[in-house]
Order: sequence, then structure tokens, then C-alpha cells
Amino acid sequence: MDHFEYRDGWLFAEDVPVAAIAEAVGTPAYCYSTATLARHYGVLADALSGAGLDAGICYAVKANSNIAVIRTLAALGAGADVVSEGELRRALAAGVPADRIVFSGVGKTAEELAFALESGIHQINVESEPELALLSEIAVARGMRAPVALRVNPDVDAGTHEKITTGRKENKFGIEWARAREIYRQARDLPGIDVVGVACHIGSQLTDIAPFREAFLRIRDLVAVLRADGFTIRRLDLGGGLGVPYEGETPPSPADYARAMAATLGDLGCRLVVEPGRLLVGNAGILITRVVRMKEGATRTFAIVDAAMNDLLRPALYDAHHAIVPVAQAPADAPRRPMDVVGPICETGDTFARQRSLPPLAAGDLLVLRTAGAYGASMASTYNSRLLVPEILVKGAHFAVVRRRPTYEEMLAAETVPDWLT
Ligand code: LLP
Repeated sequence: MDHFEYRDGWLFAEDVPVAAIAEAVGTPAYCYSTATLARHYGVLADALSGAGLDAGICYAVKANSNIAVIRTLAALGAGADVVSEGELRRALAAGVPADRIVFSGVGKTAEELAFALESGIHQINVESEPELALLSEIAVARGMRAPVALRVNPDVDAGTHEKITTGRKENKFGIEWARAREIYRQARDLPGIDVVGVACHIGSQLTDIAPFREAFLRIRDLVAVLRADGFTIRRLDLGGGLGVPYEGETPPSPADYARAMAATLGDLGCRLVVEPGRLLVGNAGILITRVVRMKEGATRTFAIVDAAMNDLLRPALYDAHHAIVPVAQAPADAPRRPMDVVGPICETGDTFARQRSLPPLAAGDLLVLRTAGAYGASMASTYNSRLLVPEILVKGAHFAVVRRRPTYEEMLAAETVPDWLT
């Protein structure tokens, strides 16, 4: 459920007409709904506590790294899952307490590990032996011990898009299942490492509960083995990955997800952490765009809009589906016809939808790409020297620009011409 609805024929974001936002800030623009963020956070938090779990929610900042969005979730009680120093700095700037931040990622650098340790974060999820050794050295040099969970790769097929599956043995992520025990033992012998738990993340946009269950059961087995080896495993980080409906999918509900955790891991006496990204922010965001012009091709009609693949990469990268709706509601009997909705970028891949059935459109009309709150703005680039899209946060009848559109002057200012060209 979200808070983007038609009222009297116009699309609203909570109590704000989407057209008013477009008028105020121009297009394209991302718009997020506070009430939707709060609803999704609340549903998940209630599901976890309803299943009797001692569990925390560390929001996966990569899904939407706007500081105001992070802060909205932090104010509801969320911690953060970060994968770079930049994300860690954002989480801290948003007011997430350091002791609610976990640091994941397969390629953390020495500088990033040092910054994380000095910030006093809750946990570092380590993904390889060399990373473990490096982290130990960095911690020892600072007279510290790093709180570590080893991210293990359970070799489970998440059944999701190949580019976002992470828990199979051929993926770059996590510690190989067969060697986990041995690497835990190595960790115990390192002076800068305090082994606190196990971490795992099998993929994103999962629409079936079975792979989660399978991974949780494997973790359960591992905990038993590690405890028998004398480890005090007190934390389990179960990653993110619960899917959202983009095109009629019916992902497991947060309650199903929590029940699967309770049934497989609930009796282990561990504090659980989940790292949802998309679930919290996906449906809480839209991308507002304007039709630049209509074009009749030889075999197709094109609606050319002012947003492009650099603003929302998902359709180009994963063939992802985003619902597209007009801001001015079309009459129920409007004649719909198939058209391709495309951006202005000089690539055929810059296509948001192929042969989508839409009501009549004309230059100047406003459209919205839905479910764009996750992996939209955070994956944007300036390809074709387009300016990054501004981000707007709505709360009730108010809206605020939470990241402004940069200027062309700012875009050019970062570059310099070497002496020999002047
Ligand atoms: N934890 C870890 C370690 C992750 O790698 C991810 C996502 C998450 C949590 C959050 O997963 P979520 O709950 O959002 O599924 N750009 C892609 C998704 C990439 C996900 C990467 N890792 C997309 O637009 O579909």
C-alpha cells in the first residue's frame, strides 16, 4: 500500500498534487512519501515483534541514500546497513547512531574499514580471509577489536534476476560455505577480531519464501557447528531481499517472512538483524516526468519523456517493469493504445516501457513511473551530461526539496583543462 492516489482526477502524493510539485521544481523529479515509508517500516517492525523475534531493522541505504529518507526511517527506529564510506557518512549525517550501523560489502578498502572502526559502528560483515586479516591489523593498530560477523555464502538460488542474485557459490559474495568453519577458526586467532555472529544475504527482489527458509536453515546448521567449536554466536544478520510488487507479483508478506525466521532461527537465542532496502522505500517513491513530444515511428508510437535511463536505470539494466500512469487521470473509457515510453538518451536501451497500453498523450503531459523509490535516484548518473534529478519528500500537505537539482555551472565546475591545452 502507498499514498499515491487519484483525487478528483489528479494524482496526489499524500495531500500534495503531483502537478504542483512538477510546477514548483520542474521535471524530471523524484518524489517520496513519508507516510508510505512509515507504513512499510511499521508493517515490518510489527511482523518481527509479532513473531516474537528479538530483531532490529538496519535499512539498506543503497536502495535510497537521500539523507532525509534515511532520517525518516531512523526516527522510526531503523539502523542502517551501509556498503561504502559514503553511505556510512550519509547514515551518520542522517542521525543513525553508530551502534546501529552494520557495514557490508565485498570490497571494503583499508581506509573504509579504518573509518568504520573509528566511527564505532555495530558490526562489520567480513566477506573474505584477506579482509579479515586486514581488519585485524587495522583494529590492532588502534588498540581496538572489530565486532565481526562473517558473511557466508549459503549456495542457495534466490530465484531472482541474475544480476541481483548473490547467494550462489559462483557469485562474488560471502565466504564459501565449505570453508566457513575453518575461517571462523582463523578469525578467533586474530587479535583485532571479535567474532559476534553470522551474516548472509542471498539476493534482492525475492518473491518466494522458500530460498529464505533454505538459507536460514543452513545458517541454523552453521550456528550449531560454530557453537560446538566454542564460539559465542549471538547475532545473526539475515540480509535484505524481500521483494515488492512491480507488475502483479505476490511476494511473501513481512509476516510470512518473520514467521519463516521464527520457525528456523527463533530458538537460537540470537539477536537478529534484517537489512531491507526495497521493501521499505520501493513503493514510497515515484519519478515524475513530462512528455517532451509524441513521435509516430514506422511501426510504433513513441512517447518521448524528459526522464531517461540515467535517472532510472532499472528498465535498461534489468528489463525491470515500472507502472506508468498519467498525472491527470484518464477517463475510464479513454482509448488506450500500445506505445513505447522512451527517454532522450542516445541509446535504444533508454526505454522505460515497450508496447505499454496507455491513454492518449500529448507533449507537456505529466506522467509518473511508480515504485521508483528503491534503486532509482541512488543509481542515477549524469550520462549524456544530464543533471541529476532533484528529490522531493512529501509529508501530509507539505513537501520539501531534499536534494536540489544541480546547475549546469556546477556540472562544468568540477572539471579542469590541463596546462597544455590552455
Ligand atoms: N543487504 C545487502 C548485503 C545487500 O547487498 C542488499 C542489496 C540489501 C541488503 C538490500 O536488498 P533489498 O532488500 O533492497 O532487496 N539495483 C538492484 C538491486 C540491487 C540489490 C543489491 N543489494 C535493483 O534495482 O533491483
